[in-house]
Amino acid sequence: MVPPPSLKKIPQTKFTPNIVKKGVNKVSNGVEKVRKERPQPSSSPSSTSSSSSSSSSSKTIVVEKKVVSEEIIQQKKALPVFSARKALVENVNKHSTVIIISETGTGKTTQIPQYLHEEGYTNKGVIAITQPRRVAAVSISKRVSDEMGVELGQQVGYSVRFDDKSSKDTRLKYMTDGMLVREAMLDASLSKYSVIILDEAHERTLNTDILFGLLKKIQKKRNDRIKQLEKEEQEEETKQDPESSNNNETTIQKIKPKISPLKIIIMSATLDAELFSNYFDNAPILYIEGRQFPVQIYYTNELQKDYVDAALVTVLQIHLQYLNNETIKSEEDENGGDILVFLTGREEIENLEKLLIDRIPRLPEGCKELLVRPIFAALPQEQQMKVFEKSPKGSRKVILATNIAETSLTINGIRYVVDTGVVKSKIYNPKIGIDSLNVIPISKASARQRTGRAGREFEGKCYRLYTQSTFENMDDSSIPEIKRSNVANVILQLKTIGVHDILGFDFLERPPLPTIKKSLEQLYCLEALTDQGNLSELGKKMAMFPLDPMYSKTLLKSVEFNCLEEVLIIISMLSVESIFFIPKDKKQEVESIKKIFFSPEGDHITFLNVFREYQRVKGSLEWCFNHFINIKSMTKVINVFEQLVKYCISIKLKIESCENDFEKVRKSFISGFFMNVAALQPDKKYKTMVDSKEIHIHPTSFLFDIKPQYILYNELTITTKAFARNVLPIEPSWLPEICPKYYGSRPIPQDQNSDSSLNTLNQFTSADDN
Ligand SMILES: Nc1ncnc2c1ncn2[C@@H]1O[C@H](COP(=O)(O)OP(=O)(O)OP(=O)(O)O)[C@@H](O)[C@H]1O
Ligand SMILES: [Mg+2]
Repeated sequence: MVPPPSLKKIPQTKFTPNIVKKGVNKVSNGVEKVRKERPQPSSSPSSTSSSSSSSSSSKTIVVEKKVVSEEIIQQKKALPVFSARKALVENVNKHSTVIIISETGTGKTTQIPQYLHEEGYTNKGVIAITQPRRVAAVSISKRVSDEMGVELGQQVGYSVRFDDKSSKDTRLKYMTDGMLVREAMLDASLSKYSVIILDEAHERTLNTDILFGLLKKIQKKRNDRIKQLEKEEQEEETKQDPESSNNNETTIQKIKPKISPLKIIIMSATLDAELFSNYFDNAPILYIEGRQFPVQIYYTNELQKDYVDAALVTVLQIHLQYLNNETIKSEEDENGGDILVFLTGREEIENLEKLLIDRIPRLPEGCKELLVRPIFAALPQEQQMKVFEKSPKGSRKVILATNIAETSLTINGIRYVVDTGVVKSKIYNPKIGIDSLNVIPISKASARQRTGRAGREFEGKCYRLYTQSTFENMDDSSIPEIKRSNVANVILQLKTIGVHDILGFDFLERPPLPTIKKSLEQLYCLEALTDQGNLSELGKKMAMFPLDPMYSKTLLKSVEFNCLEEVLIIISMLSVESIFFIPKDKKQEVESIKKIFFSPEGDHITFLNVFREYQRVKGSLEWCFNHFINIKSMTKVINVFEQLVKYCISIKLKIESCENDFEKVRKSFISGFFMNVAALQPDKKYKTMVDSKEIHIHPTSFLFDIKPQYILYNELTITTKAFARNVLPIEPSWLPEICPKYYGSRPIPQDQNSDSSLNTLNQFTSADDN
């Protein structure tokens, strides 16, 4: 029998409604405490002609062809935001930007966009709701389309990288923040949107941070333009001959501004609201009181040395409680309620999955079936979506998740959350120019978000596998991604949108100066920036692709080497976590199968061989099965490949094949990854050619045993050592030939703090904004 972990119940830590701060607007039960002014005509749309009915009092809402169930109608009315609807809408009418805070699960993401739609905001444009993660955008749009009784992809849609389910009829568009940044690159005013909701703003992802500055700028630009048009309209009116006043209406109509103001809404359950209010010119903060169902929080009495083991014990302990019927609260919850466990990454998830599966046969008789469902970013979308499936009768789901499931999601049936209190976080070191992944404690905001995945359909419990004093010592919020990431892509995107003065850009919080410097240098060496720091023609094309600059440069250069087809295939293959499916008991067998595809010209060519063979056998399932090929991964590869081909066709790139002349492919990769090169040392270790750091080929590389003299790698991960992944052998003479800017006349920068680096930086940031 498993020893129970020592969990202490803290009776007073039940989730309580938000405390309303002094001096801010309170929205509660429909009573609003803000000045009541009539909405300005230019910013509040009429509440007519919404295609979905707003009469929530009717028994059944019929929208287009589907019928919305009475159950959903009642659920919507029971949400805390429902009673605050009037006040919410009035505030949005009155103010350009509004900050909305309410407990997790109160209806922000699903309801507020529907209210605004019903109030007519979608007559003036689309409402975008951004999400930091694709799984949230996809699952919530599905829920909202059900609530509105419409087909997903019609009035309600989603747009995430490489997957767009929206149409010209889409009025509510759930999308990842990255997709909205990409749209801004094509239309710098984001003119099709009337309202943009930046949801889960507390997450402070790189793209949400870009959007804060960008939307603030766009809002001002659109308002200035409206004012200018209104002024012109007035001047035109005064010029009118009084006798022809009958014609006034037609003339005014003709010059009436087509542009509409942009409403910005910042939303979260756990936000430093004052910071945002100050940034958005004292935007009002609306706190919506109440929460759906209470969640009881428990802490451990002592620190847990092995949190995976503690999670295992806690899950089993919860599961065994069922035998005593302790937890059955309702019919929906007849299985005792599902369990959601937060871990740091794939390896841990698979480890705990194995431990649980090993224990299941040893559980006492009478226990319900335990279904283990993993969810992490690298898992194909269809598999991720499995966590949302209802547990079959007589079974209970245990979802093992990374922080991908931390915010925004409602997963049916979750009664218990098990929070290990840690997260894997990427930190960029501008000195050496690489990211490292570290396991670190979560913030208080993250802990609250994790807890908030329960208490959405019924009461819940959250087991925090750390002590209460650990919680109290946690940071209030996590370090924003922009402060710990390489910002080369951010700079490329901002410059494409027309923001040239990166240092002068109105960031909510600016990235560190050494990071900006390093990223500018990287873009310059990639030839994305000119000597004056402007976007080069190549840079403009690079920004078109939803890829990191190093990949987009490789892709574009491969056109010159006549091997775009091969490079597109390789980049698509590299976009998935693992091509091979390795059953635990067949490791040796898989290794010998892998050799069939092996090429001494590198991992990339080996992957290319797999793809070509997969194409030759027309994706035969039998072939995949016999060769341990992960079918789901290959389906994703094909999807990414097709999308990339579309991008190439749209900018008229010639897709040619080099057949088997793989030197061309290797040279193309040098054009993008010239900084990721290393040379073998007599002691069989590698040293990077840029800064002489010791690295090793990762054991999963096909070149692990071969150890070529000079290598290029796509990725460096730092665990116990620095490991190079996806490795190609190269010739050192190719470096100055392909990258004269870096290895030719220009010396390799050794000291990133040198004056010359600063001069380069100044040069890059002196240009004015467009
Ligand atoms: N797929 C779903 N199935 C069942 N109920 C759902 C689903 N999605 C949402 N709900 C219900 O709607 C409520 C509101 O969800 P919503 O995502 O709008 O809340 P939220 O305030 O945005 O929460 P969070 O701060 O956690 O993002 C949930 O608590 C749940 O009761
Ligand atoms: Mg939400």
